[in-house]
Amino acid sequence: MVNLDWNNLPFGYVKADFNVRSYYRDGKWSKPEVSDSEYINIHIAATGLHYGQEAFEGLKAYRGKDGKIRLFRWEENAKRLISSAEGIKMAPVPMELFKEAVFTAVKKNERFVPPYGSGASLYVRPLLYGSGAEVGVKPSKEYTFIVFVTPVGPYFKGGVKPVNMLICRDVDRAAPLGTGTIKIGGNYAASLKAIVRAHDEGFGNVLFLDAKEKKYVDECGPANFFGIKNNTYVTPLSGSILPSITNKSLITIAESMGMKTERRPIPVEELAEFEETGACGTAAVISPILKIVDADEGKIYEYCKDGKPGQVSMKLFNKLVNIQYGDEADPFGWISIVE
Ligand SMILES: Cc1ncc(COP(=O)(O)O)c(C=O)c1O
Repeated sequence: MVNLDWNNLPFGYVKADFNVRSYYRDGKWSKPEVSDSEYINIHIAATGLHYGQEAFEGLKAYRGKDGKIRLFRWEENAKRLISSAEGIKMAPVPMELFKEAVFTAVKKNERFVPPYGSGASLYVRPLLYGSGAEVGVKPSKEYTFIVFVTPVGPYFKGGVKPVNMLICRDVDRAAPLGTGTIKIGGNYAASLKAIVRAHDEGFGNVLFLDAKEKKYVDECGPANFFGIKNNTYVTPLSGSILPSITNKSLITIAESMGMKTERRPIPVEELAEFEETGACGTAAVISPILKIVDADEGKIYEYCKDGKPGQVSMKLFNKLVNIQYGDEADPFGWISIVE
């Protein structure tokens, strides 16, 4: 294992040894090749640079107590990348190629998979972009698929801490019939103005409302939203949010714990009725919410009144993290061992 300060790793980029690359040309994907360069050579007219033909994924590999490296639900990321590619007319990466590239990238960088107990993990970033030259607005004929990895620290150092969210009405990250359900760079570019403003004002992130009516809760920055009331896990049904793999997993866990679950539109006023709320995604698993501030309406929705994360959120969080690190059995078949 490399000598890094595992307990104080940031959630940022740290150089690993290798990345894996494959190229789509003449209607075929090349065999994945391993590179030790952090750089790419890109055509000045590549559609990925001009017309936003770019999609990515994010998943993690975890080292267990037994020393084994576990990948969490990589098939879901592979399927989501296919749907992102289809959404912006890129050549989809076949599941088998995705698997080979991801497993090779993890294996080749094994010494960067953080030790068990550090709370850190190896973040895996598959990336797909149009690399062929075009000047007119049309899809590229060539694509590049890269998988790189970087060790990341736990999102919350020193334990899960509730965060504050700011409701945003003057920026939309995605339109109702737009690209919100796929993971393409353009959605993130569109969200940056609101996210930076929320951070500058001291908030953990921004809570977007539905773009059409501004009546319903949509997404929490780069994470899905959930609320808990009356033993029910409620999460938005919306045509403009990313289908989070963490959220899908939390729904399964909640049901296995005897909770009811609902995926439906969540009116803003319902925020007053939840006992707990949170944002969920690969980075933090769950970020419990302390306060949601609606500055336009002069309202504040408060949770975690004692400053601590809610009990239900923590139960869900612990169960999912224990499965990811292999501390608990994996009854849902979510883990693949990297050998
Ligand atoms: C916009 C957005 N929503 C939700 C999520 C959470 O998705 P997942 O749980 O698959 O990481 C992410 C992160 O990938 C995201 O970028």
